[in-house]
Amino acid sequence: MPAEPDFDTLFAAASRTQRQAYAPYSRFKVGAALLADDGTVYAGCNVENAAYPVGTCAEAGAIAAMIAGGGQIIRAVLVFGQGAELVTPCGACRQRIREFAAPETPVAIAGPEGIRARFTLAELLPASFGPANLPR
Ligand code: THU
Repeated sequence: MPAEPDFDTLFAAASRTQRQAYAPYSRFKVGAALLADDGTVYAGCNVENAAYPVGTCAEAGAIAAMIAGGGQIIRAVLVFGQGAELVTPCGACRQRIREFAAPETPVAIAGPEGIRARFTLAELLPASFGPANLPR
């Protein structure tokens, strides 16, 4: 069994980065933090755009930071959002996470008070399509 990821560290990184979000249109700030195989925590926030569809999610920013920083595998994810509802990753971000994470990878969903729910990637994206589904 792999060691339990340090979700306190992921929570701190995601909540800190959420405050940097650029979300003037939705006013819905999101932060995401990833624990990577290099032991580093990478974080990102949503960055919206006046051309609405061009905006990017917090998860996409965190993944870009991981790749730029040399991480290759996602070991755990934490998404930090506001409001009463769970801020679960959108469908596109589930697929983005899938590229770098195993089905059993934990995805924690947090609000200001702490972690609200925990899923595996396979629960969020069953029967998913990943790199190994492509022919060699
Ligand atoms: N958003 C994220 O960044 N991550 C999520 O998991 C859910 C939604 C962003 C996209 C957009 O900037 C805003 O939240 C409202 O949808």
